[in-house]
Amino acid sequence: DRATVLIVGAGPAGLVLGNLLRANGIDTLILERGSRERVQTRARAGFLGANSARVLTEHGLAAGMLRSGQSHDTCAFRDAEGEFELNYGELGRGEVHTVYPQQHLVTDLIAEYLHRGGRIRFDVTVTEIDAATATVRHNGGESRGRFVVGCDGSNGVSRRALPADLATRHARDHGIAWLAVLTEAPQSMTAVTYALHDNGFAGHMARSPQVTRYYLQVCADDDPAAWPDERIWSELAIRMRVDRFGPLREGPVTERRMVRLRSDVVDPMQHGRLFLAGDAASLISPSAAKGANLAIMQAEVLARALTDAVTREDEAALRAYSRTCLPRIWRAQEFSHWMITLLHGPAAAEPDAGFQRVLRRARLSSLRDSRSHQDFFAENYVGI
Ligand code: APR
Repeated sequence: DRATVLIVGAGPAGLVLGNLLRANGIDTLILERGSRERVQTRARAGFLGANSARVLTEHGLAAGMLRSGQSHDTCAFRDAEGEFELNYGELGRGEVHTVYPQQHLVTDLIAEYLHRGGRIRFDVTVTEIDAATATVRHNGGESRGRFVVGCDGSNGVSRRALPADLATRHARDHGIAWLAVLTEAPQSMTAVTYALHDNGFAGHMARSPQVTRYYLQVCADDDPAAWPDERIWSELAIRMRVDRFGPLREGPVTERRMVRLRSDVVDPMQHGRLFLAGDAASLISPSAAKGANLAIMQAEVLARALTDAVTREDEAALRAYSRTCLPRIWRAQEFSHWMITLLHGPAAAEPDAGFQRVLRRARLSSLRDSRSHQDFFAENYVGI
């Protein structure tokens, strides 16, 4: 099995990359562990920033997003002092989000990739990657490429193929866990809402007219099974302060999953003939919904560099791939970290918890009252 570019993983990173390479006539093969059915139904992120919408549109990948994505330009913050909205579409650079569930995007990207003559093999688990020879071993045997791109997420094998003495992994476990909940319920508010509460953070994010995502900060060792529907709705009601701001529109909980807030960045994101993109290169905590957007940004940069290498034998952009992406990744990480400290209070055991709590309130007031803080927020919230 041979291909000019072998891609491991059919998430947003691998599929956007595959489509862009096919548009330039480059021979590609994607190897994906899951079945087609599985990857096309996995509900994950849903917020596409302005750069992602641009990449998808410019490369002919946006038909579904333009047809059924919802433009979203406002978020709201609630705490003991009240609620305020930020219309970020009119702040900063004036950019908005498009809400388009990731499984729909993945479905569109697979169809278009095949239409462009790309090859993809589902139910293939890669077990080993040799970065020097661009050889990949998997349960179906072996595949060889001129280049290999690891788009296999944060627990994939491509990270392990980077030599430990040459690549540094900068990692942080924020010590915070969210119960990520999908509900068959219409949205309760028009905006994404972040609720700050002494019981912990709660978030509300519309996904589609029938599906709403909620997040509840929980103990790291909590078991999702300990959160039956009634407990989820009653805790959401407390943290969302429904007595003050109105009731939530309840419905059955269809998915409950623990998400530990973790971030890491691999530097450099390449070695020999192997390049990493998406969560494989950098995992970002979901606090600012940037994961899929970073993946799409990297896929575009890498597609251009690989195209130069394959069509013109010019590897300058490939050599600069990590240098090009890392500053943008770190800015997203920095903002995401800023949001984590805004949304979550200190653990009660911390000696200066009281001090930190008041600082957090002051940060929120700056965001409520200061135009320059709001512009900072808007620019970083939607931008990459
Ligand atoms: N062999 C083959 N495929 C693999 C292997 C393996 N050993 N390991 C993982 N995969 C596949 C997974 O099944 C998955 O489909 O790689 C894919 C990785 O996709 P994602 O986890 O979606 O990662 P990425 O494309 O980087 O997307 C980044 O999108 O889901 C959002 O917010 C999320 O931050 C994430 C972003």
